[in-house]
Amino acid sequence: MNTPLPLNTGASIPALGLGTWQSQPGEVQKAVAHALSVGYKHIDCAYVYGNEDEVGEGLKKAFDSGVKREDIFITTKLWCTYHSRVEENLDLSLKSLGLDYVDLYLIHWGVAMNPKADRSGNDPKFPKLPDGSRDIDHSWSFIDTWKQMEKLLQTGKVKAIGVANFSVPYLEKLLPEATVVPAVNQIENHPYLPQQEIVDFCKTKGIHVTAYSPFGSTGSPMFSEEGVSEVAKKHKVSPGTVLLSYHVARGSSVLAKSVTPSRIEENRAIIKLDDSDMEALESIHKKKGLTRFIYPAFGVNFGFPDKQ
Ligand SMILES: NC(=O)c1ccc[n+]([C@@H]2O[C@H](COP(=O)([O-])OP(=O)(O)OC[C@H]3O[C@@H](n4cnc5c(N)ncnc54)[C@H](OP(=O)(O)O)[C@@H]3O)[C@@H](O)[C@H]2O)c1
Repeated sequence: MNTPLPLNTGASIPALGLGTWQSQPGEVQKAVAHALSVGYKHIDCAYVYGNEDEVGEGLKKAFDSGVKREDIFITTKLWCTYHSRVEENLDLSLKSLGLDYVDLYLIHWGVAMNPKADRSGNDPKFPKLPDGSRDIDHSWSFIDTWKQMEKLLQTGKVKAIGVANFSVPYLEKLLPEATVVPAVNQIENHPYLPQQEIVDFCKTKGIHVTAYSPFGSTGSPMFSEEGVSEVAKKHKVSPGTVLLSYHVARGSSVLAKSVTPSRIEENRAIIKLDDSDMEALESIHKKKGLTRFIYPAFGVNFGFPDKQ
């Protein structure tokens, strides 16, 4: 679970991380502290999840019980209404988390939203126009956001910078303008949505892929998917173990969210899958023609969930 996977910065990222999206107040502090107490070394956070204060409490509990800051890997993300104020948003996250630095700071989505939303009575995180559509700041380019991300590296407040939800066209636009190649692209990834094109593209550019929603997020039918259960039966492990191990076999790190202590523990098991296992898992989306996008990738299809 903590296999160090290399980043283009010379540092490494632990193979498994605890996700914190949708982890509710009263739950997430305990989940973070429990995960760190049972050996997790990687926690994935985001400003927009609205729970970084509590994640910070969980981190503090872990530090108080002997976990060392330098032994764990913390990721957080820049929210869309802060594209023109990158350091300001990072500082808010650091304050909530109670940290001096994060190991990885990501552009959460490559689209800027109205930065004045909080001063105009609009929803501060998901502003809308009067017609109900997203209040996108079309005048702002994510290339300028990246320039601000690059500057953060000199502040010591981030060890590495990267992106999330970036499609190949987005990366092709970014890379010629970038001084620093993103260390990571965090994308939705699971057997329903292998995103092979992006995974392969990132590999050729030295960008590490982190898979999110490996179980297909809350309420997904993936645990009982035939190909998944076959591989699980063969190895005498749970379907969850197969779904997590799939990413490590592809060279990616993976984020599993749970607030349930027994699941947090169960999800630590990562096994080695062989070629026939990978074929079985990869055939799922081919056989069924599934292309399930929980969050349509920018550059492919624009859309926003109300919360994410
Ligand atoms: N960059 C982005 O835009 C982005 C988007 C989405 C997610 N993420 C990150 O990736 C993380 C993971 O993705 P996710 O939260 O969408 O979903 P996920 O990890 O695929 O699934 C979480 C769901 O699976 C349940 N679960 C966890 N372990 C289980 C097990 N062993 N057996 C059965 N059920 C299990 C959880 O329930 P309980 O919690 O009730 O146990 C929860 O309902 C997020 O939390 C977030 O940190 C990033």
